[in-house]
Amino acid sequence: MSGPVTQRPPVVETHGLGKVYSAGTQAEVVALRGVDLRIERGAFVAIMGPSGSGKSTLMNLLGCLDTPDTGTYWCDGVDVATLDAEERAALRLDKIGFVFQGFNLLPRMSALENVAMPLGYANVPTAERLQRAADALAAVGLDTRGHHRPSELSGGQQQRVAIARALINQPPILLADEPTGALDSRTGEEILALFKRLRDDDHTVVLITHDAEVAAHADRTYVMHDGELQPQEGTP
Ligand SMILES: Nc1ncnc2c1ncn2[C@@H]1O[C@H](COP(=O)(O)OP(=O)(O)O)[C@@H](O)[C@H]1O
Ligand SMILES: [Mg+2]
Repeated sequence: MSGPVTQRPPVVETHGLGKVYSAGTQAEVVALRGVDLRIERGAFVAIMGPSGSGKSTLMNLLGCLDTPDTGTYWCDGVDVATLDAEERAALRLDKIGFVFQGFNLLPRMSALENVAMPLGYANVPTAERLQRAADALAAVGLDTRGHHRPSELSGGQQQRVAIARALINQPPILLADEPTGALDSRTGEEILALFKRLRDDDHTVVLITHDAEVAAHADRTYVMHDGELQPQEGTP
């Protein structure tokens, strides 16, 4: 679709982002050191690094689940530091979809109900909730599985339900922390192919992984070492 050219801010822009746990104590850990990161809308980016390097800390900041000790984060054009906790929660709901290694689905609910969860009972009438959830399930290729519970689905299907749930509010940013970590490699490849389709659909995918083969599916990879983020050598 072509139309008037509109300037869109990067969905993620950080400058000098820093995070220290237990500051000033013997247990002090500097988890992030001056992270500069700019991600444009429609990008598929991987953040790679060994365990303990600070990946989840960065994901928590990018997901507005935590606040940095130093530096700035502009989330889709909004300076997150200007928001109070309630406004940050509202921004998170609007801008971020989360996908985790363990799927985090509610076991007693159907796939449809899991996907509809973030819509909130108060805000959207039931019929509309279920219709939107059905559309989201169809978008991840699971239209016939809406009434199944998570235990009746394969791991790959459960992760697709979790991705549909992450997309239900149409957030510009999808943050995925080790999304293929619990899947066999073939199923993992299917999930990565789905991320590429979402990227082609103007979603922004930020994939966090310790696995270089998984990261290689992204268009661009950054590497985290001891809280410092660098572009991977050889990527644009
Ligand atoms: N809530 C916390 N309190 C104290 N230290 C933490 C906390 N979360 C993470 N850390 C420490 O910060 C560093 C980075 O952790 P994390 O961001 O979880 O790394 P990764 O996700 O790459 O494994 C590690 O040394 C970890 O032990
Ligand atoms: Mg982690």
